[in-house]
Amino acid sequence: MKLTDPVIGGGPKVQPEYVAFDSFGVMGQCTLVTTPDVVVCIDPGASAESASFPLPEPERRALEARYLDACRAAAAKAKAIVVSHYHLDHFLDARDPGVYAGKVLFAKALDDLPPKQLARAERFHATIAGLPDETVWCDGRRFKFGRTEVAFSEPAWHGEENAEPGTVVMVEVKRGREELLFTSDVCGPTFTGTAEFVANSGARTVILDGYPTILLGQLETDLDLVRSVINVCRILHSKGLKTLVFDHHHCRDYRYPAFYRLAYDKARQLKKEFGSAAELAGNASAVLRGLQDHGPTKWKKWAPLDLNACRTAVERAAPDPKTKKSLLRDLDRWVA
Ligand SMILES: [Fe+2]
Ligand SMILES: [Fe+2]
Repeated sequence: MKLTDPVIGGGPKVQPEYVAFDSFGVMGQCTLVTTPDVVVCIDPGASAESASFPLPEPERRALEARYLDACRAAAAKAKAIVVSHYHLDHFLDARDPGVYAGKVLFAKALDDLPPKQLARAERFHATIAGLPDETVWCDGRRFKFGRTEVAFSEPAWHGEENAEPGTVVMVEVKRGREELLFTSDVCGPTFTGTAEFVANSGARTVILDGYPTILLGQLETDLDLVRSVINVCRILHSKGLKTLVFDHHHCRDYRYPAFYRLAYDKARQLKKEFGSAAELAGNASAVLRGLQDHGPTKWKKWAPLDLNACRTAVERAAPDPKTKKSLLRDLDRWVA
């Protein structure tokens, strides 16, 4: 054996590629995961950003076209396609043999979908009927491809418990000790059960969705945003976690570095890789580049969310019986 012989079996066995994300300038979370056994394309789909995104509309449309192409190309490489739920930034709804023919389609089951999403889901499955080798309703199930395990969570809330958009499935791809968890649209997470699931998953890489801060008013400290900060910090504390890709809803809002400053500080302190997909690749998120080049759109003034502001928001909400008693303790434990 020579010193220069390649290391057989070296390198990561669960290799993610971030295909289309809000930090690239398009609504989406499309991720291609490659293992020695299987290639899985999770949520191939993308939608143009809305008018509050600081890019001119033609540019937003051009980004949508570019990343839809990237999603199609990623799906074409995969054996298995996942549709975590039926929002249009998470799947391609055309009858495209390049995307679906000969594939295993792991699809969110229809039985607990809200009416609008159910109608869209039924239309989608009718449109692509006959193309996939197999369509598998995947909620709560596990599958093996060689030594790779692809597992799906039970339905998880698309945001808060009983949220109007219903539920999503989270996706785990695991081989040996390497595990990646894709949360889909958990919106924060604000729901403690979701945060616990992610924190206890043991995943080395987590792709996590943040809070839709575009719903917040100017200078407003929303308790749900504080919950999200607490839960992100809690997930950052997970023992096996190395990389937390934090992208999607919050990356539509140029205020996100201020709102999530405590999480960025915590990640630095814990020496975890953390940031949007663009940031982890060494680039600025599209919304921040847009702010720099075109100026602000909807929000003109905002303040960083610091520990005092979080504490004030929690204390203000404490008399409400719906506020969990442990919230202040969680803030001190995970964020402070
Ligand atoms: Fe969604
Ligand atoms: Fe989404």
